[in-house]
Amino acid sequence: MNSITLTAPPRLRGIVHVPGDKSISHRAIIFNAVATGSAHITNFLPGADCLSTIACVQALGVEVRREGTEVFVNGVGLRPDADGAGLREPADVLDCGNSGTTLRLLAGLLAGQPLFAVLTGDASLRSRPQRRIVAPLRALGAKLDGRDDGDRVPLSVRGATLKGGAYELPVASAQVKSALLLAALSGEGSLFLTGKIASRDHSERMLQAMGLDLHVRPDQITLHPPDHPMLPYPLSLRVPGDPSSAAFWWVAAAIHPDADLTTAGVCLNPSRTGALDVLRAMGAEIEIKNERIEGSEPVGDVTVRSSQLHGITIGGAIIPRLIDEIPVLAVAAACASGDTLVRDAQELRAKETDRIATVAAGLAAMGVTVEPTADGMGIVGLGRPALRGAAHPSYGDHRLAMAWAIAGLVATGATTIGDPGCADVSYPGFWEALHGLARSGA
Ligand code: S3P
Repeated sequence: MNSITLTAPPRLRGIVHVPGDKSISHRAIIFNAVATGSAHITNFLPGADCLSTIACVQALGVEVRREGTEVFVNGVGLRPDADGAGLREPADVLDCGNSGTTLRLLAGLLAGQPLFAVLTGDASLRSRPQRRIVAPLRALGAKLDGRDDGDRVPLSVRGATLKGGAYELPVASAQVKSALLLAALSGEGSLFLTGKIASRDHSERMLQAMGLDLHVRPDQITLHPPDHPMLPYPLSLRVPGDPSSAAFWWVAAAIHPDADLTTAGVCLNPSRTGALDVLRAMGAEIEIKNERIEGSEPVGDVTVRSSQLHGITIGGAIIPRLIDEIPVLAVAAACASGDTLVRDAQELRAKETDRIATVAAGLAAMGVTVEPTADGMGIVGLGRPALRGAAHPSYGDHRLAMAWAIAGLVATGATTIGDPGCADVSYPGFWEALHGLARSGA
């Protein structure tokens, strides 16, 4: 199907079990691939990005078996030995598809492994900046190369003996942070990360749970490479629901005039809950129940009801905690009263699309006054959910396609979204869930 057309339903009601978290699903495969022993992962996200990770890891000689949302990984260990342990040199180019996380985490892991590999991806991934991982990995001794002096994939990795060292992160990026931690795992010295280390911390939590000597302080992360041959231990886990997927329903419920939606079993890791904080600050009615710990992560059920939203400024330290949710938060801002300013979010320009440009264009098409800036945008709220239905291309950007679908739930007339299948990158079943919720309220 090349497009989907929707109109606003009178009511939105229901409970949604959003799929497993994308970041944790990637990490569960990659980390367990080099563990000593087998891991069993449940509620894995079978989205296109995480399937790219599985295919790449299989091409590195790791046995990974998936049955729906259940995955079994037979770790090969961190270091090769005479008995055939360790990752195998891939026979062909590793295709990371649309997934920056697959590419950057694997580049880090492979940098210290005795093999040669080439990583590439789709047109969107081939246009995204990679110097952010290539420069610090080279500083550790990695031999990486690629187009534009290593800033663009295809990237080649000639595994090398890595040293440890100190690195000050210039961007708050969990992908960069995780690439360095993975490189340091097979390196010869300790790694000290400072600077912008405050980003999603799933790698830190999971590597600690796998027995690694990793310490987190507010100003520094330290990793000492394991000296015991059994490390890292395998980590079996249930992946919690993805808050970045749940955020679509949180915004839908907040802006729709007659809504009551619950997202059950969502990861509430504080490094991921910026969208909840922003919606609350905009006046959204939010209730969190059944808070619990699952594995290494806090989890809970989040209910959001129809709310009168007002505009706010979104910037500073909260940005890394909601970077993926900005497209849908922009839809909330468009329906709020007053102005919203998004700033300090220049990272949006390096996502699957330039999300400052694509979000601003989409909102403008729905009748919203929006001013893109170098590091964000100003949005003049309509004061009520009075968006005008429009035809939106998705440019293959999953979060953009889903954000326009949420806008369509409160728009006048029809909203058409091109290439709706791209939602499968992070949220297989999104369109079915949307139709189910809209129908249950009818
Ligand atoms: C991710 C980190 C974020 C996020 C991406 C997933 C991760 O990217 O946008 O969707 O799993 O580490 P950056 O690290 O580039 O900010």
